[in-house]
Amino acid sequence: MGAFSFLKELLLLPKMKKLTIAIDGYSACGKSTLAKDLAEKLGYIFIDSGAMYRGVSLYCLRNGLVENSIPDLIEIKKALPKINLEFKRIKDENHLFLNEEDVSIEIRSNEVAQIVSKIAVIGEVRKKLVNEQRKMGEFGGIIMDGRDIGSVVFPNAELKLFVTASEEVRVQRRFDELKSKGIISSIEEVRTNLKERDYIDSHRKIGPLIQVSDAIVIDNSNLSRQEQLDFALGLVFEYNSTSH
Ligand code: DC
Repeated sequence: MGAFSFLKELLLLPKMKKLTIAIDGYSACGKSTLAKDLAEKLGYIFIDSGAMYRGVSLYCLRNGLVENSIPDLIEIKKALPKINLEFKRIKDENHLFLNEEDVSIEIRSNEVAQIVSKIAVIGEVRKKLVNEQRKMGEFGGIIMDGRDIGSVVFPNAELKLFVTASEEVRVQRRFDELKSKGIISSIEEVRTNLKERDYIDSHRKIGPLIQVSDAIVIDNSNLSRQEQLDFALGLVFEYNSTSH
């Protein structure tokens, strides 16, 4: 398959219903890449919800709300109204702004990666971000990736995808991504962090990562970026061509 295999469907896009597409999955499984590629093809909004949890984590780190890797729950709850997160499009990329400052690079740091799952278990943090995420999706035409998108944020999403890949593939991908951003890390450090985050993300009480029963699983361990996109585009067009 290739870019032209969906030419007819792509031409019909303006007439198609704008869907809400939820993409969930473990760390570094390629969710955001798929979400971004799909959004570009369909002309939808793309939101990386993990970036928002990272933004809150960065605020907490900078403001002394985490000590010895332990979040100060009381102070974090008090600080939440002061944390303003916004996505802005810059040169075809979504940039995350934390209180008017572009923090897109900093939220990818090892320091943030070490703490983000511990911040994401806090009920009040989730409540604030889930509210903001739902507002972004009010009008459909949105693709959001994360951990609780199909289960909590958009339980009525028309299309739910659960993306997965083998541990080896995920570790290598995250390592390459960090390297390309100039963030120094060892493969073992990346592996330990991914495993720890996956465990916390799928075992927390509120909004854990789960594979909801109506999600379609995509294991992309052996798929190229284009193959993964083609598969997902096929699902979108199939949805639109059936009697919904
Ligand atoms: O997708 P990511 O690795 O950038 O996400 C960073 C962390 O944020 C991840 O460890 C879990 C948390 N997260 C979450 O709890 N719920 C979401 N919807 C998205 C991310």
